[in-house]
Amino acid sequence: MRALAIVFFVLSFFAQNISGQSNTIDKRVDSLLRLMTLEEKVGQLHQITSDFAATGPITRDGEKQDRVRKGMVGSYLNVTGAARTRSLQEIAMQSRLKIPLLFAQDVIHGFRTIFPLPLAEAASWDMDAIERSARIAAKEAAASGIHWTFAPMVDISRDPRWGRVMEGAGEDTYLGSQIARARVKGFQGKSIGDTDALLACAKHFAAYGAAEGGRDYNTTDMSWRRLYEVYLPPFQAAREAGVASFMNSFNDINGIPATGHTYLQRKLLKGDWNFKGIVVSDWGSVGEMVNHGYAADLADAAKKAILAGCDMDMESRAYSAHLAALVKKKEVDIKLLDDAVRRILRKKFELGLFKDPYRFSNEAREQSIWNEKTHLNAARDIAKKSIVLLKNEAIGTEKNTLLPMRGIKNKKIALLGPLVKAIDDNNGFWSYSWPDDSVRVVSLWKGMMNKFGADNSLLYSKGCNITGNDTSGFAAARQVALQSDLIIISVGESANMSGEAKSRSSIHLPGVQEQLVQEMTALGKPVIVLISAGRPLIFNWIADNVPAIVYTWWLGTEAGNAIADVLSGDYNPSAKLPMTFPRSEGQIPIYYNYFSTGRPFKQDNDNNYVTAYKDLQNSPRYPFGYGLSYSRFEYGRVKLSADTISQTQQLSANIQVSNTGSYVGEEVVQLYIQDVTASLVRPVRELKAFQKIKLAPGESREVTFVITKKELSFYLEDLRFIAEPGQFNVFIGGSSLAAEKASFYLR
Ligand code: NOJ
Repeated sequence: MRALAIVFFVLSFFAQNISGQSNTIDKRVDSLLRLMTLEEKVGQLHQITSDFAATGPITRDGEKQDRVRKGMVGSYLNVTGAARTRSLQEIAMQSRLKIPLLFAQDVIHGFRTIFPLPLAEAASWDMDAIERSARIAAKEAAASGIHWTFAPMVDISRDPRWGRVMEGAGEDTYLGSQIARARVKGFQGKSIGDTDALLACAKHFAAYGAAEGGRDYNTTDMSWRRLYEVYLPPFQAAREAGVASFMNSFNDINGIPATGHTYLQRKLLKGDWNFKGIVVSDWGSVGEMVNHGYAADLADAAKKAILAGCDMDMESRAYSAHLAALVKKKEVDIKLLDDAVRRILRKKFELGLFKDPYRFSNEAREQSIWNEKTHLNAARDIAKKSIVLLKNEAIGTEKNTLLPMRGIKNKKIALLGPLVKAIDDNNGFWSYSWPDDSVRVVSLWKGMMNKFGADNSLLYSKGCNITGNDTSGFAAARQVALQSDLIIISVGESANMSGEAKSRSSIHLPGVQEQLVQEMTALGKPVIVLISAGRPLIFNWIADNVPAIVYTWWLGTEAGNAIADVLSGDYNPSAKLPMTFPRSEGQIPIYYNYFSTGRPFKQDNDNNYVTAYKDLQNSPRYPFGYGLSYSRFEYGRVKLSADTISQTQQLSANIQVSNTGSYVGEEVVQLYIQDVTASLVRPVRELKAFQKIKLAPGESREVTFVITKKELSFYLEDLRFIAEPGQFNVFIGGSSLAAEKASFYLR
């Protein structure tokens, strides 16, 4: 009987294809579901890692392929390369119902072509460039048979000790929401049925970025109001952009592990937000509910997770071991199981896997897409847009800055520091190394040789390692520095010092690197410092004493070329920090939109009975939204279209921005709003809009922002989102310290 039904299904399936696919995907999903055994349904919810690579604590179980053949695996992660995905899919095609596997991968900032770290890209504030980066990553990964990326990470974080800040868009909810949207659009393309699209995944739902003490996997505890106001909007933005999946998270929120959180997953996400896609657990997070002390054993964890709305179990083996029995014992309603299976099958249909389980991925297509020159150009473009110029102080006369090194000729340039010749580090955490990286990845050294090598002589000395106390290389560095006209020192973290499970209690520039800079600066020659890292680092001596500082993050395949573009002035830097840089770990958590207190400090050293530390200035080292250009931008006065508006009216805020420097330059014009008096304490200011504009020297432009009720609203204790009548301040400028201000009233 069953065999007949299968034949009927297969025939009718092809007939449907031929007759122009008259049936909707939902109907197909339902007919397939009717054919599935309980065990096959559970199989669809089971995701395992390949043995080629692990992105978590791996559990080896011998008969993985046999399970695939039996239809007991729905999805694989970490299978790289068209050849491997193809051969596993061939095994899935031997299963009774021939349901294709879904191949998932952490395609976080590029696949074959590596783009800047997501945090670095966020510094570009350039949504088109960010979308393009995700688009290219999707094309390259899809050609290898990958269907699903575990990106974008949309966790807001205000704690640079947390190693995963490198994977997100920084501290701000508004900027983070814009970027979430751009990344989802980029990964998913026009339609996920296109063979160059990936399913995107908004992670980690929710509040993983608020782990206490910046310690990965730790507890989060916060008011619902704060959760709704600060941490959820980027997820909501991803949802609105049509994201195909969500990943829950390792942390508990106010006592309930996110993986077992019914309110978040069933009520809010699948209910209020009407999300129809897949909710996947994080690696082992179903089973980890036992460690949390929230589930008694793996069976209990499986039950709690599925009841709470987690559809797919990544690597816990809780669903595969216990779900069928839980359904048989009627502890889990089969309807819940069916709903989870439906969500997964629907995506497999939407991807077109039932038409072509290989989605045209093959080694020839893989090779041709991987070698697209345009991808490297795009990587260089976003890399230069991500570089933040932190300092470029004039030496002597006003115009005499070290940067840009325009038209520099016949000079000796010393390139010092442990990162000058680094190759793999440029790829950063969450990236793939390829056998030809040593020729393909452009190190700083190579990029500088490309740009300056023909007309100047470049000298190198490593000076020291990234970590450790060894200063024995300083002498050789000094020799090189003494022969040179200009010293460029490249310091920072290694790539694997930030990322998952890379929390650090000290985020000072590691080892003796700052000492190397001190010794080289003491030689009295011009010094430029480049800092590469996956998080905001602390480098106070450098900040105070070195005239030119450039934050270069990890910029991917084209890193060296992009840095040389900025140093030479071929590209005028335009990036702005997406996170506040502290002066000391003691200031953390630190963020620009803190709540107004009863005892605010008035200036930097004011610490007498006000909210301040006795042993530190009040300001951060560098504020959110800050970044310099080789041009100078001047702001006029903020002009508002009305003094008072009603709840249904909107208001425009105008400001004139002028480029008073001598280079063409881009500026991110930022608008912040403060609700002066409200029924709840409000932040001192919040980013509500920005525009990136390009101005020629001497050019001025009127920039206009529209303010509506939405920008004025906030969450009350009962989670109503409202705008309260009263006074609002509007600040516009080039960073979160924007000083130009105007006020209006909401009736
Ligand atoms: C654990 C990480 O938290 C998550 O972001 C990632 O996607 C999975 N491992 C899979 O590698």
